Amino acid sequence: MASGTAVEKPTGQPTTMKRQCGVIQVQHPLVKHHVTRLRNKDTRPSEFRNLVRRLSALMAYEATKDLLVKPHAVETPLTDAEGSQVIGRIGLVPILRAGLGMVDPVLDLLPMAEVWHLGLYRDEDTAQPVHYYDKLPAKRPVDVALIVDPMLATGGSVAAALMTLRDWGVPQVKVLSLIAAQEGVDMVAAEFPEAQIYVCQIDPELNDRKFIVPGLGDAGDRIFNTVAN
Ligand code: PRP
Repeated sequence: MASGTAVEKPTGQPTTMKRQCGVIQVQHPLVKHHVTRLRNKDTRPSEFRNLVRRLSALMAYEATKDLLVKPHAVETPLTDAEGSQVIGRIGLVPILRAGLGMVDPVLDLLPMAEVWHLGLYRDEDTAQPVHYYDKLPAKRPVDVALIVDPMLATGGSVAAALMTLRDWGVPQVKVLSLIAAQEGVDMVAAEFPEAQIYVCQIDPELNDRKFIVPGLGDAGDRIFNTVAN
């Protein structure tokens, strides 16, 4: 390392989370590193998708720390051993379209999860969420739902998803967003105090088009390579 280089001392041990009223910011050197690459305007879609996957897995690891388990015996090649098994139905709820980029890495950790898609886009003029797809069953809600969407800007889309899951009757809901604006997380935390909101990064403001600043642009466009369209 070059002499004189400023080094940020790791703050992540033993806890890797910073909590504030239902908002949990994942604190980890790898998260900071990958968020920095994610923000870079020169990061191409293929690398952007990989970064979304890595950050989603790191966040899902933190967000699943309180899942319930029951004892589950296992027979190893040598003998019997005590083990554990996650209990309860877990639902993964991606907000289309950008949330799709987070599904596979979270499903890798939770292969037993059900996936329930919600279609929401933000009207470009009003910045209000518009519902366009929802096939949630009327009955039998999952026990724990993880809403995944890389961006939480005004918070309108996540709030609409949380309302839908509240109506479905889901008892425990977690939101996983890679990057959020302070006013968006504040609004969602105030309106849905029962939800746990996991983020990698909270940025200070929204611009006049309601984009997160400094942010990373439009995650959906960068994941799906539609920036120029
Ligand atoms: C983006 C993002 C969130 C929403 C965040 O989606 O993925 O869903 O905007 O903004 P909000 O917090 O102000 O509601 P977008 O509407 O661009 O749709 P897309 O995923 O199809 O690109």
